[in-house]
Amino acid sequence: MATQVAIIGAGPAGLLLGRLLANLGIATVILEQRSRAYVLGRIRAGVLEDLTRAALNRAGVGARMEAEGLAHAGIEIRFDDAAARFDFQALVGREVMVYGQTEITRDLMDDRDAAGLETIYEAEGVALHDFDRSRPYVTYQRDGVTHRLDCDFIAGCDGYHGVSRASVPAGAIETFERVYPFGWLGVLVDQPPVAPELIYASHPRGFALCSMRSARRSRYYVQCDLSDTVAAWSDARFWDELRRRIGPEAAEALRTGPSIEKSIAPLRSFVAEPLRFGRLFLAGDAAHIVPPTGAKGLNLAVSDVCTLSAALGEYYTEQSTAGIEGYSARALQRIWKAERFSWWMTTMLHQFPEMSPFERRLQRAEFDQLVTVRAAAQAMADSYTGPPI
Ligand code: APR
Ligand code: PHB
Repeated sequence: MATQVAIIGAGPAGLLLGRLLANLGIATVILEQRSRAYVLGRIRAGVLEDLTRAALNRAGVGARMEAEGLAHAGIEIRFDDAAARFDFQALVGREVMVYGQTEITRDLMDDRDAAGLETIYEAEGVALHDFDRSRPYVTYQRDGVTHRLDCDFIAGCDGYHGVSRASVPAGAIETFERVYPFGWLGVLVDQPPVAPELIYASHPRGFALCSMRSARRSRYYVQCDLSDTVAAWSDARFWDELRRRIGPEAAEALRTGPSIEKSIAPLRSFVAEPLRFGRLFLAGDAAHIVPPTGAKGLNLAVSDVCTLSAALGEYYTEQSTAGIEGYSARALQRIWKAERFSWWMTTMLHQFPEMSPFERRLQRAEFDQLVTVRAAAQAMADSYTGPPI
């Protein structure tokens, strides 16, 4: 089998790249190691920057997002007993769209099926070959048979644990990493959200976040220890802890119910450099991880594949390699901006083990700066809603 671009991974990065390349008349095959149902079972963040929303619409896959997504013009940030609303429209003239990543993945999968584009699920043992030469190829097993896919380029969109980044010789790649000493325990519940906008709360007992998926489905998180297990957190314990951290008014308004999903995610910042190795490109979580504070993960994946598809479009339609050669540096500029913002928001709002009272006061001063200095609030709103470049 042969194609122009072999895409590894059917997460949002790989699927959107497939759609963007199809729009440019470029052929792709996606190889995904899991089943479709497994990929759709993963629950992830759901806040889309303006540019992400525009990119999905431009690609032709935004109809359901526009119909069902919730446009939010601001967020609330709480610190101990203080609270402030940040009005994104007033601060930077932009808003965000709340629409679950799982729904985007579903929209992209349906779109790919309708267009008759090939996705091979349950492709085992995917291996990348000769991406440092002019004719790369990928091998994989399906139903016990080994297959070979010849291509011009390979796009590694296979997430943090994928095979693409791991295929790069150690000497050719540099990685940057910070692992945070806590996790987020998340609960999904079929109850209306506690408030119309998201609430980020820093409390002496730890961080908490109130988010949502729709007018009837809510997503809540509490900061937890890395040693915690889901089994140790009954629904009752979770609701109790959340109530204590989000302030009396929100606690009063909170509508609880049986959790329909409960999971613990560690927090990590990670960047690989560069993002191109001959004819192999890395994009999305394969290239970088952000902690979820600020919800930049999906947005970065979208901006990576927009840059990459434009570069590949240039190659095929104008026979120019300039875009391909510039992909890594261009994508990394935005990636590091988002890394800084996610690290900053994480650091301001979480309880760190053995944090001194001095450090807690500094966190409070950071919050006060946002509340009292308009330029500081504007900078935060700019990063949260997604800077134009
Ligand atoms: N072979 C084929 N597919 C693989 C392999 C492999 N060896 N390893 C991983 N995959 C698949 C995974 O099963 C997954 O479906 O690659 C896909 C990667 O998808 P995601 O992890 O969703 O990553 P990405 O598409 O980059 O999306 C980024 O996901 O984690 C969030 O916060 C992040 O929102 C961001 C988004
Ligand atoms: C979510 O809805 O899952 C979510 C929202 C905002 C974040 C992180 C996660 O910062």
